[in-house]
Amino acid sequence: MANKNLTNAKRAKNDEFYTQYSDIQKEIEAYLEYNPDVFRSKAVYCNCDDPYESNFFRYFVLNFNKLGLKQLITTSYKPSPVANTQLALFGDDKTLAKSKGRPKVTANKFIINEVRDIDDDGEFNLKDVAKQLKTNKNNEWSPLEGDGDFRSNECVNLLKQSDVVVTNPPFSLFREYVKQLFDYNKKFVIIGNMNAITYKEIFSLIKENKVWLGAGKNDGRNVWYQVPDSYENFHKKEDGKKYAFVAGTIWFTNLDHGRRHQPLPLMTKAEVIKFGTKKPFEKYNNYNAIEVPLVKYIPNDYAGVMGVPISFLSKYSPEQFEIVGMCENEDLYKMKTKVYTTAECKQAYLNKFGKKGTYDLNASGVVIKSGILEKVYQRILIKHKKK
Ligand SMILES: C[S@@+](CC[C@H](N)C(=O)[O-])C[C@H]1O[C@@H](n2cnc3c(N)ncnc32)[C@H](O)[C@@H]1O
Repeated sequence: MANKNLTNAKRAKNDEFYTQYSDIQKEIEAYLEYNPDVFRSKAVYCNCDDPYESNFFRYFVLNFNKLGLKQLITTSYKPSPVANTQLALFGDDKTLAKSKGRPKVTANKFIINEVRDIDDDGEFNLKDVAKQLKTNKNNEWSPLEGDGDFRSNECVNLLKQSDVVVTNPPFSLFREYVKQLFDYNKKFVIIGNMNAITYKEIFSLIKENKVWLGAGKNDGRNVWYQVPDSYENFHKKEDGKKYAFVAGTIWFTNLDHGRRHQPLPLMTKAEVIKFGTKKPFEKYNNYNAIEVPLVKYIPNDYAGVMGVPISFLSKYSPEQFEIVGMCENEDLYKMKTKVYTTAECKQAYLNKFGKKGTYDLNASGVVIKSGILEKVYQRILIKHKKK
């Protein structure tokens, strides 16, 4: 089911999944808790966001003064099937007429430099933002020349003038998207697919502590997203809006937060065996490491390398552990002690399944169970940090 949902998300035309306000708020507040000035005097750029749809825009514009932002830049992507067709931003406010001047087929750029209670009703809200944009005083609202692709010159120039990028970019362009952020040396808080952890380009950044998981919900369980009206595989409808859940979407960032400095409480090796696994730790046949099937079974007194589930990263503290590699085909981290021959992979398949085939032993950690070679799930290789 989880895989099916991911595939659905991937296939959905142009990755049209809209992040909910509460999810953005929860995540950003975790960074603020750690450093209340993290956004002060900074320019935030949401570069995959139709300001009319995006809760990223909505969150940052409504909290502009509270965060002490210098600027909020938002650009939309023209080919988006919903760009310029829904009016969520101003549409929620029944007192506002739909903006007449809104370009219908272009990608748009909003640059917010100032927000305040313009109508003096004692409250700052989206109505004030709309009025300020209409009068165009200190804020800019204009069509982009191009299609709003985050890689276009126009958007790259906006990226250059920003400090922190916060958005949910298209899942299908994640590698390229992250590369661009590094090319321009930007801070970011972005949503991605949990699978992206295993992309070699992304994992090497995680290993070097240049990227880590966000502070919030990172367990890979379902997250609800608003989807376009035209989306048929939605899971619920509320207040006329369609929602679908996607398994395995998590936050990736290079902004610091408190959770990653909290050490994971662990048992000793003997305690894990006594209270948990009831059997000794297994050693891999192809790595000089032990297999740890659950994060809670990571022993606190093992000095060598341990293979742990990917979900470990949501608990990872760089002060407690070092990431040394991942079990994968290419042996990028030079951790393999054995590479299986084709004949061995064929024999292993026959032994395990009783029929002809090839067991892709080189793609993962392998343990021996009753004389039979068994692949384990995807593992990250870690070590305790030397004290
Ligand atoms: C997963 S949706 C998220 C939308 C919005 N950021 C949010 O979280 O509500 C990804 C968005 O990226 C836009 N997009 C797709 N390809 C893009 C590109 N090359 N450049 C900029 N935006 C793009 C899509 O139109 C879509 O709106």
